[in-house]
Amino acid sequence: MSSSESGFSRKNPFPAVLSVNQKLTGEGSNKDTRHFEISLAGSGLKYEVGDSLGVFPSNTSPLVDLVLKNLGFTGEEQVTTADGTPATLRAALTTSYILTEPSKQLLQAVFLKPEEKGSLENFLWGRDVLDVLEEFSAARFTPEEFVKVLRKLQPRLYSIASSQRAVGESVHLTVAVVRYKVEHSQRQREGVCSTFLSERSASGVPVFVHSAKHFRVPENTDAPVIMVGPGTGIAPFRAFIQERQATGAKGPNWLFFGEQRAATDFLYQQEFEAAVSSGLLQKFTTAFSRDQAQKIYVQNRMIEHGKELFEWLEKGAYFYVCGDAKNMAKDVDAALHTIVEQNGGKSVDEAREYIDALKKEKRYRKDVY
Ligand SMILES: Cc1cc2nc3c(=O)[nH]c(=O)nc-3n(C[C@H](O)[C@H](O)[C@H](O)COP(=O)(O)OP(=O)(O)OC[C@H]3O[C@@H](n4cnc5c(N)ncnc54)[C@H](O)[C@@H]3O)c2cc1C
Ligand SMILES: NC(=O)c1ccc[n+]([C@@H]2O[C@H](COP(=O)([O-])OP(=O)(O)OC[C@H]3O[C@@H](n4cnc5c(N)ncnc54)[C@H](OP(=O)(O)O)[C@@H]3O)[C@@H](O)[C@H]2O)c1
Repeated sequence: MSSSESGFSRKNPFPAVLSVNQKLTGEGSNKDTRHFEISLAGSGLKYEVGDSLGVFPSNTSPLVDLVLKNLGFTGEEQVTTADGTPATLRAALTTSYILTEPSKQLLQAVFLKPEEKGSLENFLWGRDVLDVLEEFSAARFTPEEFVKVLRKLQPRLYSIASSQRAVGESVHLTVAVVRYKVEHSQRQREGVCSTFLSERSASGVPVFVHSAKHFRVPENTDAPVIMVGPGTGIAPFRAFIQERQATGAKGPNWLFFGEQRAATDFLYQQEFEAAVSSGLLQKFTTAFSRDQAQKIYVQNRMIEHGKELFEWLEKGAYFYVCGDAKNMAKDVDAALHTIVEQNGGKSVDEAREYIDALKKEKRYRKDVY
């Protein structure tokens, strides 16, 4: 049954139950990266490895309370949600509207002057709805006017970290919880959905399956697979490895993982080491960026192993990368070009053609965010 056949979708998310919330990072880590297990029992929802899970989050109640207090509302006022249904203002601000980024309409409503608009981007960086209300305290709204200048809260996607063949009616995620400070305020900032999963999901997690047909394991189970997944980019590759085991795939698997420190940030260390011992993972290459004076990233390790990596490609390997889109995926792409040039005896143009051909054959696949 596909996710649409189950009757649950982005438009009609399944009210799932979070069954496991386990911290993967250790004491002293800079990160709070978590393993979540969400029960899909009774939903009929099906997913393939490579898919993502959509999660509809709620805002944190301290933030909702501060916004209500700032505006002089009790929260019991009746308003219309972004979906057009009636609700109390507190419920609408909790589940229906974005509070962590001010909308253009809100800025217009608080009378941001035209000369200030030039530096709007600078002003907005790191500011949320409450910051704007505090800064423009003369602004007045009725509850209905206020919700009209907010944007609709959107679901977040998470790469699925499990194979349904291995875990049944469950779905696993690997999530970095977003918390940070901004210069202009003492108030801690929190990512809406990652903190929702980690702290506010007791009464249910509305979810849907987001299909990613471009990011599947090879249909030919004999094909070798190279996976590059630093940080939370590891998530789909945990699923791939479960899938390759469950389907008895004979093709060899090579995983590159990177994080800051081996002692505190080695996500799923025991699982991957067990996969090496059992022969499921033929190669497992790690890059701990902060365990030595000079940063070492996954792409440095790829180049160190360039000869062998090129041999795998020549044997028909599929190359996958997942994680940070801004820097990592670009640097990994550049490393791949270097490897093909250095080990395939190719010019820059020839290496580009080689990699374009990989893409055409769908043997170079990315899931980056
Ligand atoms: C296909 C896909 C798969 C994904 N898979 C995963 C996954 O497996 N695991 C995972 O953890 N995430 C994954 N993500 C990212 C995920 O969807 C969310 O974007 C992430 O969890 C943050 O959401 P949030 O609601 O917690 O934070 P939000 O409320 O959306 O806040 C995030 C925003 O906060 C701001 N911000 C963050 N840090 C700082 C800082 N230090 N200083 C100033 N501003 C800052 C940035 O503007 C950032 O965009 C994936 C995304 C996509 C598109
Ligand atoms: N806005 C921010 O400030 C911020 C900060 C961190 C993460 N993020 C985002 O949050 C998401 C989750 O992050 P994450 O916890 O999964 O891990 P991540 O930040 O992607 O880090 C995982 C590993 O990748 C390393 N890394 C950093 N730059 C790299 C590069 N150019 N090439 C290869 N490796 C690189 C990191 O090293 P070092 O950390 O030692 O450099 C770390 O060892 C990602 O989308 C990321 O972009 C945002």
